[in-house]
Amino acid sequence: MLDISIDPDQPAAELYADLTSFATALVDGEPDAIANMANISALIWQYVPGLNWAGFYRVIDDELVLGPFQGKTACIRIAIGAGVCGAAAATGEVQRVADVHAFPGHIACDADSRSELVVPVLKDGAVIAVLDLDSPLPDHFRPEDEAGIARLIEAIANNLG
Ligand code: SME
Repeated sequence: MLDISIDPDQPAAELYADLTSFATALVDGEPDAIANMANISALIWQYVPGLNWAGFYRVIDDELVLGPFQGKTACIRIAIGAGVCGAAAATGEVQRVADVHAFPGHIACDADSRSELVVPVLKDGAVIAVLDLDSPLPDHFRPEDEAGIARLIEAIANNLG
């Protein structure tokens, strides 16, 4: 198994550079998207501070279906366009939400969630999944979290579907 050593307290740019290196190594040569999503959600859960949920929803037959994750049990199916995950899937754009209660249609899987970062996974120009990160802390995610997670997902997107 890959020997992972990451300092979660280092500055965000370095943390995400390290995470991207390990994520790339974890999925290297492995074509199974579910296995890769499982390892990537575990990697992010372990090293990104302040999360209460981290995982994937996959686009299947025009809706989002729960994929591998870490955290409490969650809603299984989300319509494209519904809530924060659905907005990321519909637009193909990252959703960084400081206050989920102010987001129209937010779906509260875990009542503790206060802020959310959802990054679409794009393959051949189409959204094939989204990565959803939730935090119990209001306004937890910074622009550097958005940039770091977006780059990580872009680097491994070909092994996620
Ligand atoms: N809050 C999300 C739903 C997914 S759960 O948080 C895991 C949303 O509004 O899309």
